[in-house]
Amino acid sequence: MSRHISSLLAIAAVCVTLTPTPALAQAPKKEVDCSQVKCVALTFDDGPGKYAGKLLDTLKKYDVKATFFLEGQYVKSRPSYVKRMVAEGHELGNHSYTHPDFRTVEKWDIRAEIKKTQDAVKKAAGVEPKLLRPPYGMVDLQVSDVAVEFGMPIILWTGGNEDWSSKNATAIKKKSMEVAKPGSIVLMHDWVKQTVDSMPAIVKSLQKKGYHLVTVSEVLKGQDVKLEPGDVYPVPAGWENK
Ligand code: NI
Repeated sequence: MSRHISSLLAIAAVCVTLTPTPALAQAPKKEVDCSQVKCVALTFDDGPGKYAGKLLDTLKKYDVKATFFLEGQYVKSRPSYVKRMVAEGHELGNHSYTHPDFRTVEKWDIRAEIKKTQDAVKKAAGVEPKLLRPPYGMVDLQVSDVAVEFGMPIILWTGGNEDWSSKNATAIKKKSMEVAKPGSIVLMHDWVKQTVDSMPAIVKSLQKKGYHLVTVSEVLKGQDVKLEPGDVYPVPAGWENK
């Protein structure tokens, strides 16, 4: 089930908005300003995987927000996890329906893959993803054109923990720590058991180093990156956003 064939590649001043909360009201919303503090976006691809529930428990326990690039076929089979992701404040992205390399399929097929996944997420959780991550991070002009049709920027990653390759908890933690830098977008997978098992240790280590674990949109906002539909971030070598 190896998915990703290539890796493309502060100091705390947290604003806490406390509103008077009657019993049973939502917990106070904590706002993180990523232009002022160190932020990292953890991203989980190809899910919801079968360990997504355990992962969500960990994220909740450590007050971490993540971004899930969902694969439509699994949204359809595990809709309750998608609902939970939205309810617990995570960001969602579209990662196709069946994970083809978009460079090798026709434009209408890219369109269908994206649309089916948008529809599945809408059905599961009542919202539509606003970000696109093509399978394997493979982008060309045709993919960008279709992203424009859907009004979505294309989000790749600055580093990955290579969990799909090593399937080793020690290596996964080491690599996760290595690639986490201020403003990083880190690629992981919630179908890799060792990633989900290691997540409490990874989160604790990152938080100890002063990182705030936030959504992709929050990381972009902190760096004042404004993406138009069809733009790619981070910009791959040889690519120019229009
Ligand atoms: Ni993938």
